Amino acid sequence: MTTTYCAMDFSQRGAHITIAGEAIPARWLRDHGEDEASRHPDSLQRRTDTFAIDPSVQITACHVDGDQLHIDWSDGAATEHSVDGLTRVVRDRRAPAPASGRPLRLPDDITLWSRPPEPTTFAASVLDDDALWREALAHLHEFGWLAIDDVELGEAPTRRLAARIGYPRASIFGDVWEMNSGAFEHQDSAYESFALDVHTDGTYSHDAPGTIIFAQQARTGTGGDSVLVDGFAAVRDFAESNPEAADLLTRYAVRAHFIEPGVHLIAERPPLRLDPDGRLAQVSFNNYDRSPLLPIDGLVDAVIDAYNGFRAVFSDPARALRFPWAPGRMLVFDNWRCLHGRTAFTGDRKFTGCYTNHEDLEGAYRVAGLSRQA
Ligand SMILES: [Fe+2]
Repeated sequence: MTTTYCAMDFSQRGAHITIAGEAIPARWLRDHGEDEASRHPDSLQRRTDTFAIDPSVQITACHVDGDQLHIDWSDGAATEHSVDGLTRVVRDRRAPAPASGRPLRLPDDITLWSRPPEPTTFAASVLDDDALWREALAHLHEFGWLAIDDVELGEAPTRRLAARIGYPRASIFGDVWEMNSGAFEHQDSAYESFALDVHTDGTYSHDAPGTIIFAQQARTGTGGDSVLVDGFAAVRDFAESNPEAADLLTRYAVRAHFIEPGVHLIAERPPLRLDPDGRLAQVSFNNYDRSPLLPIDGLVDAVIDAYNGFRAVFSDPARALRFPWAPGRMLVFDNWRCLHGRTAFTGDRKFTGCYTNHEDLEGAYRVAGLSRQA
């Protein structure tokens, strides 16, 4: 049975919303509007700036009209929510996995960078020369990214690079795809021209892409630098300053979705996924694609604070490695380690893109003798 109760109590901390017998925290509701200002009406990609919400935000007015809950907020915003949708979120409340009691471990055979290293670029000959390729692969292994300049235009170099690692991974975007700004081939923020917050791809995939390859084909206008952050270094630094929050993010699964006509993907895993030995294996973080998950009572603030706290660490501009683009430049990075974003741009851009699997990347490291893991 669904019971909706909207109580106004200005004597303490504003109004309180109760759905199906569960009190819904105000700061969570403020983040999960279903109106067009809060999320894209079709893809359901989030538009609310989660990280700008005042944790003490209050409800100043609310009313229920049929299935719709309307809320006015102390920060001036107004949001709408469906009672049915909120009821499903309440039904799906969950606890984190039990704590292992083991300290979080990090790989010890790579260079974690909290400040951007020099944006070294390799020559296109690495694609065709085995010895040069091993040097380039060693750079990818150590830092999580590899830039190659002066490659010929067209998709052939992208396919050669994917073949050096493994093979192109087919996805909803194709195996090797073209991404033209403004073309909106997919309902995804990647096709817009505004700045993209750093994120990982494929949080809606059980097996997120292991690498992402971009190769610029043409451009006009300015801006649009790629931004890379070492997610593993951010985890190390976050865990040093806030070990309990980092531990919570290794155990609390966050759900994500991708929706467009004919496609509805959902997956979930902890933002910091550990391997069976307790070593950090994968960072997953994309607030655009995140679904509305509500932790169990008593953990709402802890989970939101941990999620926001990790984001505050990795989004520090001082960590960001920026790559300006020019036709003929290619960039490949480890999507399980590095977060990527983009500065805003003007004009038009055309890229070739491709994913590869992470086990192929790991295999390439082993074959080249770069990884100590058996
Ligand atoms: Fe992306």
